[in-house]
Amino acid sequence: MNPVSFLLLVFFTQATVSVGFGILANSNNGLCIESERHALLSFKQDLVDQSHRLSSSVPGEDCCKWTRIVCNNSTGHVMEIKLGSPFDWKIAHNHEKLALQGKLNPSLLNLKHLRHLDLSGNNFGGIQIPSFIGSLVSLNYLNLSHAGFSGMVPPQIGNLTNLHSLDLQNSYFYEPEFYVDNLHWLHGLSPLKYLDLGYVNLNKASDWLLSLNTLSSLSTLHLSNCELDQIPSLENVNFTSLTTIDISHNNFNSLIPNWMFNLTRLESLSSFFQFHSLMSLDLSDNQFSGSLTDKIGSFKSLYNLGLQDNLISGPIPLTIGELSSLVKLHFSSNQLNGSIPESLGSLSNLEQLYIEGNNLEGEVSDIHFSNLTKLRILFASGNPLILKVSSHWIPPFHLEGIGLGSWKVGPLFPKWLRSQSNYTLLDLSDAGISDVIPTWFWNLSNYVAFLNLSHNQISGEIPDMLEHGYGYASIFLAFNQFKGQVPPNLF
Ligand SMILES: *[C@@H]1O[C@H](CO)[C@@H](O)[C@H](O)[C@H]1NC(C)=O
Ligand SMILES: *[C@@H]1O[C@H](CO)[C@@H](O)[C@H](O)[C@H]1NC(C)=O
Ligand SMILES: *[C@@H]1O[C@H](CO)[C@@H](O)[C@H](O)[C@H]1NC(C)=O
Ligand SMILES: *[C@@H]1O[C@H](CO)[C@@H](O)[C@H](O)[C@H]1NC(C)=O
Ligand SMILES: *[C@@H]1O[C@H](CO)[C@@H](O)[C@H](O)[C@H]1NC(C)=O
Ligand SMILES: *[C@@H]1O[C@H](CO)[C@@H](O)[C@H](O)[C@H]1NC(C)=O
Ligand SMILES: *[C@@H]1O[C@H](CO)[C@@H](O)[C@H](O)[C@H]1NC(C)=O
Ligand SMILES: *[C@@H]1O[C@H](CO)[C@@H](O)[C@H](O)[C@H]1NC(C)=O
Ligand SMILES: *[C@@H]1O[C@H](CO)[C@@H](O)[C@H](O)[C@H]1NC(C)=O
Ligand SMILES: *[C@@H]1O[C@H](CO)[C@@H](O)[C@H](O)[C@H]1NC(C)=O
Ligand SMILES: *[C@@H]1O[C@H](CO)[C@@H](O)[C@H](O)[C@H]1NC(C)=O
Repeated sequence: MNPVSFLLLVFFTQATVSVGFGILANSNNGLCIESERHALLSFKQDLVDQSHRLSSSVPGEDCCKWTRIVCNNSTGHVMEIKLGSPFDWKIAHNHEKLALQGKLNPSLLNLKHLRHLDLSGNNFGGIQIPSFIGSLVSLNYLNLSHAGFSGMVPPQIGNLTNLHSLDLQNSYFYEPEFYVDNLHWLHGLSPLKYLDLGYVNLNKASDWLLSLNTLSSLSTLHLSNCELDQIPSLENVNFTSLTTIDISHNNFNSLIPNWMFNLTRLESLSSFFQFHSLMSLDLSDNQFSGSLTDKIGSFKSLYNLGLQDNLISGPIPLTIGELSSLVKLHFSSNQLNGSIPESLGSLSNLEQLYIEGNNLEGEVSDIHFSNLTKLRILFASGNPLILKVSSHWIPPFHLEGIGLGSWKVGPLFPKWLRSQSNYTLLDLSDAGISDVIPTWFWNLSNYVAFLNLSHNQISGEIPDMLEHGYGYASIFLAFNQFKGQVPPNLF
């Protein structure tokens, strides 16, 4: 938007508000407190509200009845402003219109009982978060995520000593970027349970871990895409309430943090074992090196373990089978080697297994899958593994995605696939299959969106039925020994 039309919009909005204001003076205020309604109207004045989110259909109505405003029923004080504008890809082209723009008027400070402020998903066009926000001391919930703020995060937020949720995750890329010089201001936020600083540049905040370590109530921590490159050591682990850690997409170029997997070097970190409550750990897309230790088995509550896109080497520890809560295991694109431990087969809650692009080798048998009754995703292509299951094997799972490319699955076409009627993706490329594809195969895979059978020695003809069921699919059959006609419409 160019500056002229922006000004016009602001002017137009102000004009509308002052007309509404005239009506208000004579109307029944209901529960709404006069000074707080004024504050809300001034707040609205500085917003460009193209979709009329901060107003009611009747301008004079009780402000406690405005949609997106919540008052205390007995005192009438405004407690919550819920002006989040969740981004929806389906209406992305409309987002500009739905999102609030403009700036934040300090009149908010007159809402002394405001405890919940959600402005997420709006578009403040790269302005800084105003420092007065640190004076809204009643706030326990502040959500400014994806709202187009940039510049330095005001350290005054550290005065919000009642906060339990702080979400500043950014997604816009304005200059100057969204950043902090340090995180010392976190020290005052001891009740904080939820903290998301995703896409906030923390590169200069060398105190990040020390400051976070003062937050003994913290249970969810998201520091994804924060330009972090160092994990300092800790003497005492105090943030023992953590259940979710996401430090993915940073530049850590080090061993996996000692305090997470290996205590032997730092004996004083014995409180590590209080991490039994850890439920989700995402260290993906860094440059973590080193290997996994048996201590991984002590994360009994872990349901999500994301280590993909790192430089982790060595074997998958046997103790992996002790992660009885595990639902999603993501080890893809590392340098893991050795064989897959049979204990993996005891992860009876596992739904998604990603081990693509490692150097795992050896045989994988039905024992490896014995109790994986809930498995839906098996993406394991790009490992020199050998699938050795009996010819009558009926897997305990119904997969939706199957990736066994570059495994040795053949020479026979795998019969067990007949039990899998629910997959949309199948990669059996370069799998040493030198067989004719059974006719049931073409029939069962009606929903397949991606099929790669290339680089085998599959013979026989490609049936015409492909023409119908696969209108929108990507099918790769090259480098085989098919003969006859390629069905029309297939390529
Ligand atoms: C409403 O205000 C009263 C009096 O301050 C307080 O006791 C009560 O907890 C408040 N209600 C809510 C839902 O916060
Ligand atoms: C206030 O009262 C309304 C109607 O009685 C109720 O729906 C609402 O949940 C109450 N709000 C709070 C914060 O207690
Ligand atoms: C903040 O708002 C976004 C978008 O509405 C939402 O996805 C996110 O969960 C909210 N954060 C918290 C802590 O509630
Ligand atoms: C708020 O925070 C700033 C910066 O951290 C600090 O200088 C100031 O004294 C604080 N104000 C209050 C009222 O605590
Ligand atoms: C961590 O806890 C220890 C022992 O309870 C305490 O001495 C230390 O000051 C705490 N450290 C931080 C950074 O809060
Ligand atoms: C973990 O401890 C073992 C035994 O002390 C040591 O050999 C290894 O290098 C340590 N690993 C890391 C990542 O520090
Ligand atoms: C795994 O790779 C390491 C080097 O990264 C090597 O020392 C080790 O012998 C390999 N292990 C196996 C079982 O191949
Ligand atoms: C699978 O589950 C059964 C019953 O819970 C158990 O007896 C068996 O040991 C498990 N197998 C593996 C490989 O964990
Ligand atoms: C097939 O997949 C759908 C979801 O994609 C799921 O709802 C359904 O339960 C699956 N069926 C079987 C037999 O696993
Ligand atoms: C199909 O598999 C072959 C061999 O593994 C691979 O080179 C090719 O990139 C795959 N095709 C697609 C589209 O993934
Ligand atoms: C394939 O499915 C069709 C329709 O469901 C059925 O008529 C046909 O007999 C099936 N063919 C084979 C080889 O199973």
